[in-house]
Amino acid sequence: MKFFLDTANLDEIKKAVAYGVIDGVTTNPSLIAKEGVPVDEQVRKICELVDGDISAEVVSTTSREMIQEGRRLAKIHKNIVVKAPLIPEGIVAVSALAKEGIRTNVTLCFSAAQALLAAKAGAYIISPFIGRIDDIGWPGIDLIKDILTIYKNYSYGTQVLAASIRGPLHVIEAAKAGAHITTLPLKVLDQLFHHPLTGTGLEQFLKDHRNAFELVSAY
Ligand code: G3P
Repeated sequence: MKFFLDTANLDEIKKAVAYGVIDGVTTNPSLIAKEGVPVDEQVRKICELVDGDISAEVVSTTSREMIQEGRRLAKIHKNIVVKAPLIPEGIVAVSALAKEGIRTNVTLCFSAAQALLAAKAGAYIISPFIGRIDDIGWPGIDLIKDILTIYKNYSYGTQVLAASIRGPLHVIEAAKAGAHITTLPLKVLDQLFHHPLTGTGLEQFLKDHRNAFELVSAY
């Protein structure tokens, strides 16, 4: 399973990269806005930190403008994946960009029917938002399972990216379902480390080690 980091913050990216487990980064207009730096400039810096797929999202709403924006974003770096929303204009743009060899990540996916449209248009990645589905009281993970079944039935090459991740359970459930990628906020990546037995176990090991050395050095 590929791990992407869901942020546009350079310090967060540097911290996660040090773990050696990050395969890419996803940004969106809200995450870019938090950094207060234009998207082109910020994703260029992200591409210098991570050698993997970096999603940069279009902010226009007509297919003509999305295609132009997508071409511009794709020129920033070879690893840029153009993110476009799952609306009819977005699918027109994805289909045109795919024909030009530009890779796309179709975002704001909330149904299997939408995911089918994205695959048919030639999307490189589909991003179902499982946390936001849970937020309205539906089981978000079921959407991941449905999309994977449908894509397998027809051998679509589009990768399924579990997005809008709220905690470790989402990551485990998405991995069990077979999602190709998940994108994590740094907080969730850090939560993946936590287990109380690791903490108490390490404490005991170090205590035993200290005691042994103290005894040896006493002679
Ligand atoms: O980048 C898309 C996504 O992961 C959004 O997550 O937490 O805003 O629902 P969230």
